[in-house]
Amino acid sequence: MNTIMTLHSLTRWLVLLFGVMTVFTAISGMMSRSKYSALTDKSSLLFMIMFDIQVVFGFVLYFENGWFDRLKHLGDFMKDSLMRFFTLEHWLLMLIAWVLVHAGRTAVKKAPDSQAKYKKALIYFGIVLLLILIAIPWPFREAVARPWFRWF
Ligand code: HEM
Repeated sequence: MNTIMTLHSLTRWLVLLFGVMTVFTAISGMMSRSKYSALTDKSSLLFMIMFDIQVVFGFVLYFENGWFDRLKHLGDFMKDSLMRFFTLEHWLLMLIAWVLVHAGRTAVKKAPDSQAKYKKALIYFGIVLLLILIAIPWPFREAVARPWFRWF
């Protein structure tokens, strides 16, 4: 489980990297009114793929580390922010973000022109990135703090 935890910790940076790249290239494409770029398309694809991988690691940890079992006693844990965070909040927010990243790729594909594509990309992937940033147990979040990096 230590290996999966390390992979889950490290893959976070790839998800964030491609998420930030997607949002920035969408903003710059919109401002320069350019044709929908291969860079935005590729980085949003990698954003989605890395997110898919992260969800798999996440659910392995969720079931193997006993968080799912604790869910049955959630009533007892509601006042404990650490328990509440990992039994409920973290995966629920991430799952909403995961649905939106897939919906975003479809919405961009269906959009009629480059400007409409950039707009959809910015809205969907911007919200996804925000949700991820909110749901990560950053080291500065006292109650749920986890390290910036883990290594094998
Ligand atoms: C539905 C998807 C996800 C599930 C089910 C999930 C599940 C979990 C669980 C159960 C833990 C706690 C592991 C433990 O201590 O036993 C955890 C930790 C963590 N998760 Fe997720 N996660 C998901 C998505 C994500 C995403 C998308 C990111 C970031 C892009 C992320 C970042 C982290 C980080 C940074 C930790 C702390 C790792 C450490 O302790 O070093 N998770 N996750």
